[in-house]
Amino acid sequence: MKYKTVGRTGLKVSSLCLGTMLFPNDPQASRAIFAKSLDAGINFFDCANSYGGGGKSEELLGDCIAEHRCRDEIVLISKVCRPMGAHVNNQGLSRWHILREAEASLKRLKTDRIDFYFAHHYDPLTPIDETLRAFDDLQRQGKILYPAVSNWSAWRIAKALGISARESLARFELIQPMYNLVKRQAEHELFPLAESEQMGAVVFSPLASGLLTGLYGVNRSPDQGRLLQARYAERYSDSANFEIADRFTAFAQERGVAPATLAVAWAMSHPAVTAPIIGPDNVEQLQGYLDAAALDMSPSLRDEITALAIPFEYGVERTVD
Ligand SMILES: NC(=O)c1ccc[n+]([C@@H]2O[C@H](COP(=O)([O-])OP(=O)(O)OC[C@H]3O[C@@H](n4cnc5c(N)ncnc54)[C@H](OP(=O)(O)O)[C@@H]3O)[C@@H](O)[C@H]2O)c1
Repeated sequence: MKYKTVGRTGLKVSSLCLGTMLFPNDPQASRAIFAKSLDAGINFFDCANSYGGGGKSEELLGDCIAEHRCRDEIVLISKVCRPMGAHVNNQGLSRWHILREAEASLKRLKTDRIDFYFAHHYDPLTPIDETLRAFDDLQRQGKILYPAVSNWSAWRIAKALGISARESLARFELIQPMYNLVKRQAEHELFPLAESEQMGAVVFSPLASGLLTGLYGVNRSPDQGRLLQARYAERYSDSANFEIADRFTAFAQERGVAPATLAVAWAMSHPAVTAPIIGPDNVEQLQGYLDAAALDMSPSLRDEITALAIPFEYGVERTVD
């Protein structure tokens, strides 16, 4: 396993981060995935208060960490923002909700600190200053090590970095956007921002919910799988995505590499990416991800794979000729 430093923090994490969003679906399989991940050198784990409903993923991840007595060897992510109950204030990025939820996450994870604590989404009702001050207080209390941010646009993150600097508040040290061969929007503004400001980047959905595993194409689909669920089917419904999946699968097969392995290796190989967040359902799938960490992705191989996708129109910024 290779390790990378998260932005300017000095903290080293494995080049794969294990996602636990679906951990409660099959606790026995999840325990086996956790154990095999640790054995393989993964030291980076992603969770959120909302995963599994009512904190169930945090509870199960906390159990795994306690069983393996590995808390001081791993780097732990959790998040706040999504609704955690019917009460009107039980969501968002208000000071009220952040401080309460941080305490609840610590209990469920059975730890005294969360290493990266994310604003999971943007909350249009709460001023950014209030959110940053709540994170800063948690950092000063030692309950979180670093604030972090997911699913915000680049201009808003840049605005938050400016506020942190002006007010001497802890700043976002890690971002978490979606990134895969058919969803490359992060290349436009978020990755350049992360590189310019020395923030780490962990990216979710490297397999595009299964689209890039070789099982899907213009005329191909398994009987069941994540991508068939309405939410994900809608996200990737554009027929061009399935054409890319066909081209990508053929490319991987010609080179004797499992498509899932190549897709993850491609996402990892962007220079701004600290680690992709992987979501195996079982230990067999986990092996495909571990093979990705060992794959040597040269810049020319990366370019060949990128060329299989639709050319991405970058922004309007132009340099002088
Ligand atoms: N910040 C955020 O808003 C956010 C959002 C989403 C996820 N995340 C994080 O990122 C993690 C991963 O996200 P994701 O689950 O959306 O990742 P993904 O890479 O898009 O999809 C993972 C899915 O691909 C399928 N798969 C995996 N390996 C496979 C293989 N070798 N062959 C065939 N199919 C395979 C499995 O689904 P099936 O086998 O069921 O088809 C698996 O559930 C989550 O656990 C969570 O921690 C964060």
